Amino acid sequence: MTLLAVEGAQRRFAGREVVAGVSLAIAKGETVALMGPSGCGKTSLLQMIGLLDRPDGGTIQLGTLDAWAQSQAIRAELRLTSIGFVFQHSNLIPYLSARDNVALPAWRAGGARAPALARADELLERVGVGGRRDGRASELSIGEAQRVAVARALINRPRLVLADEPTGSLDAESTEAVLALLLANDGPAVLVVTHDPEVAARAGRTLHMRDGKLTS
Ligand SMILES: Nc1ncnc2c1ncn2[C@@H]1O[C@H](COP(=O)(O)OP(=O)(O)OP(=O)(O)O)[C@@H](O)[C@H]1O
Ligand SMILES: [Mg+2]
Repeated sequence: MTLLAVEGAQRRFAGREVVAGVSLAIAKGETVALMGPSGCGKTSLLQMIGLLDRPDGGTIQLGTLDAWAQSQAIRAELRLTSIGFVFQHSNLIPYLSARDNVALPAWRAGGARAPALARADELLERVGVGGRRDGRASELSIGEAQRVAVARALINRPRLVLADEPTGSLDAESTEAVLALLLANDGPAVLVVTHDPEVAARAGRTLHMRDGKLTS
């Protein structure tokens, strides 16, 4: 069953086409790596799939919905409950604790305080930052913040996780912990941008991008 279908996605900045007609499909639960040189359009593509940046052309279908044809309210709901996004730069709320950063999307989705905190703690433990849960996000190291961001992306049990170099600042052990959580067999579909061939090798298949287009 197809979860995500991208058809002819295009994005232009200042007249330059940085995503030049990308089509791809990802099945429910499938894990896919996206590789390509710096500046080839990976983040731009992810932002359109993640409903953060509107395409200049093409469609992005999530389940049965043409996502960008929906109202802003429905897109916001999809972003909150169906899509987990791990930003290239972790993007945590600096003055909140790590665990509040992770629990926040659950509260915003209407979840009760205690179970959200319990799940946040469990996710933080699994990526090896349980001991840092009460520290302000602004005081975390880059690698710690990256792991907290992965936990945050998973809190609402999304159907699709979009992760933009989620292990770029991690050592081998932390990378393993993040991949184990992100690429778990019964987990969400995942599209993970990476420059690391070892990370890509852990995904079900790898897409290669160059100059705004997929080459395989
Ligand atoms: N908001 C924007 N305004 C103008 N140009 C942009 C914008 N966002 C991205 N670009 C340009 O689009 C091109 C693709 O950028 P993008 O961030 O998608 O690359 P990337 O493949 O993610 O690179 P990296 O591996 O370095 O993260 C780059 O040349 C970038 O400068
Ligand atoms: Mg990028």
